[in-house]
Amino acid sequence: MERVRKAARSARFLKRVFSKDEIAYCMGRKSPWQHFAVRFAAKEAVFKALGMKGVSLLHISVARDANGRPSVLVAGKPEPGIALSLTHSDHYAAAVAVRWA
Ligand SMILES: CC(C)(COP(=O)(O)OP(=O)(O)OC[C@H]1O[C@@H](n2cnc3c(N)ncnc32)[C@H](O)[C@@H]1OP(=O)(O)O)[C@@H](O)C(=O)NCCC(=O)NCCS
Repeated sequence: MERVRKAARSARFLKRVFSKDEIAYCMGRKSPWQHFAVRFAAKEAVFKALGMKGVSLLHISVARDANGRPSVLVAGKPEPGIALSLTHSDHYAAAVAVRWA
């Protein structure tokens, strides 16, 4: 969490890792780094669940439905067959991705 909090001060880091929509959402929250940190964890979890190689973290992003429920976009398009669960607090952020197809 602390690593992401420091890194999130850099606009260059943010643009390299997060989509415009993710940056806008996180920046609009009271504690942006919690939301950045959990999305970073989500990208890694999805990357591992899908067994993606040679793909940048920017390629994977987290969308939210009207209730705040997260889902996965790959190259900006909804990725079917993978579910995401996110949780975060002041010091920890965790993401679980489950692939069923
Ligand atoms: C979904 C819920 C469990 C989130 O819990 P929380 O204590 O706010 O926060 P957590 O750190 O555990 O999780 C936050 C993440 O939950 C996820 N989340 C939010 N709403 C969600 C939903 N409806 N379904 C699944 N995941 C959800 C988001 O990814 C969020 O992270 P983000 O804001 O960075 O996108 C909680 O809001 C809830 O119980 N909602 C259902 C009931 C409800 O809507 N009540 C309204 C007030 S009574």
